[in-house]
Amino acid sequence: MVKICCIGAGYVGGPTMAVIALKCPSIEVAVVDISVSRIRAWNSEKLPIYEPGLDDVVKKCRGKNLFFSNEVEKNVAQADIVFVSVNTPTKTSGLGAGKAADLTYWESAARMIADVSKSSKIVVEKSTVPVKTAEAIEKILTHNNKGIEFQILSNPEFLAEGTAIADLFDPDRVLIGGREETQGGLKAIKTLKDVYAHWVPQERIICTNLWSAELSKLAANAFLAQRISSVNSISALCEATGANVTQVSYSVGKDSRIGPKFLSASVGFGGSCFQKDILNLVYICECNGLPEVANYWKQVIKINDYQKKRFVNRLVSSMFNTVSGKKIAILGFSFKKDTGDTRETPAIDVCKGLLSDRAHLIIYDPQVAEAQMMMDLSLPKFDWDSQPGSPMQIPTDESVSQSVKVVHNAYEATKDAHAICILTEWDEFKNLDYKKIYDNMPKPAYVFDGRNVVDVGKLRQIGFIVYAIGKPL
Ligand code: NAD
Ligand code: UGA
Repeated sequence: MVKICCIGAGYVGGPTMAVIALKCPSIEVAVVDISVSRIRAWNSEKLPIYEPGLDDVVKKCRGKNLFFSNEVEKNVAQADIVFVSVNTPTKTSGLGAGKAADLTYWESAARMIADVSKSSKIVVEKSTVPVKTAEAIEKILTHNNKGIEFQILSNPEFLAEGTAIADLFDPDRVLIGGREETQGGLKAIKTLKDVYAHWVPQERIICTNLWSAELSKLAANAFLAQRISSVNSISALCEATGANVTQVSYSVGKDSRIGPKFLSASVGFGGSCFQKDILNLVYICECNGLPEVANYWKQVIKINDYQKKRFVNRLVSSMFNTVSGKKIAILGFSFKKDTGDTRETPAIDVCKGLLSDRAHLIIYDPQVAEAQMMMDLSLPKFDWDSQPGSPMQIPTDESVSQSVKVVHNAYEATKDAHAICILTEWDEFKNLDYKKIYDNMPKPAYVFDGRNVVDVGKLRQIGFIVYAIGKPL
């Protein structure tokens, strides 16, 4: 029986390994993590992450060929294939601070693999890492030269949160990069290919050299984020001219060379990866003497920051240039629907912007815990574009707990609110009883739709003043 061990039981490690276990009953999969609480949750009824379909997959395999454990070293030592799916956040201090990926967790995982291994292994980069990381990892793995062969593969993950299980069941492609120039490298690529071939059609498994695989992941995220910043930049022009961004993006996306997906204007993209990975790409370009290329990709993040700021400014200016003491209902806090993840969610910047104008916020999100929101709003903001020498953290207002209340449904949040601000496209926000909500709000009653989920015409008929991204006023 082939044994797989995955280091890192997070948003990627957990769902990815659960699907491998489900699709490959002949493989034993251990997912290990240093976090005791995370492993306890993976072994409980309430999994540590919310992801549609995940509970079902885990229930089918857990205890059979899928195990979650804190015994990191033991499981690594026994494995034939070790996936490393630890977090690779942006560095906040030292060389490359604000842009470069922090590979501390990766490096410590690699050192541990080298130290505990007694048999040859394939080590798989599942985390998103800078191009050429495999070269450094190879050096670490072979540093104590015990005569063990390590083959390193790059197998970046393309799943999106909220659709992780569907993406893993039916991926557009699986990418495997390895040392194609050596027999050992080719054998390792084939071994991993055989794992995915249990359910992924051969033609969707792409095999490349290591550097192409590492770079393709960063490039794919940069291209995806670029589409959102492009359509968001057009949304600003739509508002200025009376064009409707939904009509424009539909018309543009009908060109099969452009395509219809990933062209929805929004209050801005969030999530743990787009900003981090583009900054990483920017840093790699700068290190390779390509400042023009670096600046090109930087602009994608600048437009994203601009879109969030523009949304707050529009809200404040529409409400007679002040929201001081006004109650604003925030509907949705996670960075997209169907996840409870708040990493880099645009809601943080929007809420902070409103709090700095002394608004009172009543927040409702179906999946995000109150403690998480309070922590996100209390932490200082990370300034990726700070100049050398200036602080990377913008201090935050400490009075968050006095100005923020978290409630358990949309009706409670909107009662007596001067305005409603929709920041996540949860399906339930489409079908709320907006007449009932309107009747319970002081007038004029405003809706600021950061996700274009409401029927603007219907709400205006009820009496709301509605501002939607890229829509005529
Ligand atoms: P995460 O923070 O949810 O999970 C990482 C886990 O690794 C944590 O539970 C942490 O405790 C554990 N860990 C860190 N160091 C460890 C060590 N030395 N030994 C054992 N466990 C350790 O992160 P994530 O969202 O799953 O992302 C992981 C990687 O995958 C990142 O590089 C990310 O860029 C990439 N990625 C993420 C997504 C996504 O949608 N979240 C999609 C594709 C790729
Ligand atoms: C993204 C990519 O889609 C995945 O392929 C990739 O594996 C992953 O990053 C990663 O490397 O971490 P994720 O961040 O989970 O996945 O979610 P997305 O669906 O890409 O959404 C990102 C942000 O863009 C969200 O805030 C979403 O609301 C926003 N978005 C998305 C828009 O504003 N408009 C769109 O048309 C699509």
